[in-house]
Amino acid sequence: MTQTTESAELDVKNLTRQQASAELADLADRLSQANAAYHTDDAPVIDDAEYDRLKRRNAAIEDAFPELKRSDSPSDQVGAPVASGFGKISHSVAMLSLANAFEDADVAEFDTSIRKYLGLAADAPLAYTAEPKIDGLSLSLRYENGVLVQAATRGDGAVGENVTANARTISDIPQTLTNAPEVLEVRGEVYMSHDDFAALNEAQQARGGKLFANPRNAAAGSLRQLDAEITRARPLRFFAYAWGSLSAPLDSTQMGAIEALGRFGFSINPLTALCDGPDAMIAHYRKIESQRPDLGYDIDGVVYKVNNLELQKRLGFRSTTPRWATAHKFPAELAWTTLEGIDIQVGRTGALSPVARLSPVTVGGVVVSNATLHNEDYITGLDSKGTEIRGGKDIRVGDLVQVYRAGDVIPKIADVDISKRGDDSVPFVFPDTCPRCNSAAVREPGDAVRRCTGGLICPAQAVEKLKHFVSRGAFDIDGLGAKQVEQFYADGWIAEPADIFTLQDRYGSGLQQLKNREGWGEKSAAGLFAAIEDKRTIPLDRLLFGLGIRHVGDAASSMIALHYGTWEALARGVDAAREQSGEAWDDLLAIDGMGAVMAGSFVGAFAQKAERASIDRLVAQLDVQEVKRADTSGSPVAGKTVVFTGTLEKMTRAEAKARAERLGAKVSGSVSAKTDILIAGPGAGSKAKKAAELEITTLDEDGWLALIEGL
Ligand code: IVH
Repeated sequence: MTQTTESAELDVKNLTRQQASAELADLADRLSQANAAYHTDDAPVIDDAEYDRLKRRNAAIEDAFPELKRSDSPSDQVGAPVASGFGKISHSVAMLSLANAFEDADVAEFDTSIRKYLGLAADAPLAYTAEPKIDGLSLSLRYENGVLVQAATRGDGAVGENVTANARTISDIPQTLTNAPEVLEVRGEVYMSHDDFAALNEAQQARGGKLFANPRNAAAGSLRQLDAEITRARPLRFFAYAWGSLSAPLDSTQMGAIEALGRFGFSINPLTALCDGPDAMIAHYRKIESQRPDLGYDIDGVVYKVNNLELQKRLGFRSTTPRWATAHKFPAELAWTTLEGIDIQVGRTGALSPVARLSPVTVGGVVVSNATLHNEDYITGLDSKGTEIRGGKDIRVGDLVQVYRAGDVIPKIADVDISKRGDDSVPFVFPDTCPRCNSAAVREPGDAVRRCTGGLICPAQAVEKLKHFVSRGAFDIDGLGAKQVEQFYADGWIAEPADIFTLQDRYGSGLQQLKNREGWGEKSAAGLFAAIEDKRTIPLDRLLFGLGIRHVGDAASSMIALHYGTWEALARGVDAAREQSGEAWDDLLAIDGMGAVMAGSFVGAFAQKAERASIDRLVAQLDVQEVKRADTSGSPVAGKTVVFTGTLEKMTRAEAKARAERLGAKVSGSVSAKTDILIAGPGAGSKAKKAAELEITTLDEDGWLALIEGL
């Protein structure tokens, strides 16, 4: 146990706001580490008296400065173990991912779609920055009054992990900044150089430690150490390339803002260039690609960003990616190896997925021994319409196959060399029964996928559903991962999601049952139950995503949840839409991005009796929260239904729609009694007439812009 040195502590009433804020950050950090060390590592780093003293100090500062109380305040974590080891931090501005471009044509298309959205002519000047896409992990650093107060990983984009103490050990990360805005969140990538990675793995090998697959894993593993001293010993680096909350703008352009970060002392990538259009962007991409082998660190593409920050603001975001940026990825890396076998996995929706078992081979620095074979047709070399795949060559066990991987994507089989095929080779026969439950596995017409028809009786489907349910984007229950789900399912402890929430009632008394099992101790068992309790309160979008309904992914769940708001409204709506016709069905289809296939799958899942009963049992255990809408308080159009008609002159229709939605309005295509405002530009016809008949407020474009000005 290390002894903490008692620093000369200022009386709470003599603290400045800045000191109080920095100390609260530090206390949150130290207490969360102490919790992690105690609860997760079973290796306390401070004694009980010191722990209590820190808690009291934290409470005293919070009393004196209530407005500085943190979202991850240790006071709110009384007794609750921090099972993942790190405190959670909600990002004030979400940390998003990027859309991808693969071909040169995609870059031109990126430029075209931006011009279209903004209503810019093809020859109007429009500049972009182009810079390497660093293959590491993103980190958000919060500075208040020039002092680093918090560092958070990306997490799920909305909530990350508090890794402040670890970030402080990285020499590329300044502890203080001069002349910085009062609040400045700097975002960038933590990475490890090739040389440092090789040296680390060598050292790990020498002491019999774990080897890292690639520099990115090494960087992630090193940053997420519960003991910051381990992080300190790992040579991590940081490039700044973006920002989150700001109390004052850094500049009016992306390039200027990045240069400002450089002046604050951050490392900015020297290969960042300003380009006047797609040709220059692609030329810079080629330049970076040619230097890639000599950079000394991993990059996986080039990121393009609209340079003008005012235009970035107008372009805004899709559900998980900005419209103003894209990542132009480098082509995948390739290698040849032998296909040792083909296994069939059954997914949560019953899809039978063939998986290639390979002789291990290194592809782009990572050892690969499994790859996806997609589906039955991919193995046969002919799709359902008779179109050839890979020139019509089928794939057989024993074949020499070409494996490729691009970034994080699961390795795939790109090609097969049939000239090396032996005489004894036989075509692969795809099963027509489920390998797990023996139910018939059928292919619907037009579907490339064969599916097990066992539904809830298929153990593979049930387990996969449960794994999805506890996964990161869904319920994300700390301590309950794929391995534990499999164990609990095999032992008959949980068969469906609702069972997770009755686990403690059924098995928790004295914790004996769980405690006596391999891998579980008293602390981890208590931690698991606390983590489950924590997720009893769940936002509607997460619940919906957690149900794992086919076609209803992350983005769709958010849209649907936003549309209905509450669980009750959603259940009512989906029940009323059961016949797939009528007003409720039209209402569902009116959700932006919703198609008939997704809507059918969504409604179908709720209409299926056994599945619905299982959903109802789950919801009975939960406190489902109304989905958090973007903060539209102060928006005069929040909750209003608006219709645009005629020609808009100051913005395109897409921009107008996105902006209205951001302000909480619902944009509809037709005028009805439910319409609140019609925005009519020149040339408005029947819609304006109908609105007049229904006495609906009608504004011209300027009137609309005046209404929403400044929002
Ligand atoms: S910009 C709002 N620039 O790529 C978008 N991201 O696939 C902000 N990344 O999560 C990201 N290098 O971790 C940006 N030069 C760069 C980057 C970069 C690497 C990562 C980042 C992000 C991911 C998206």
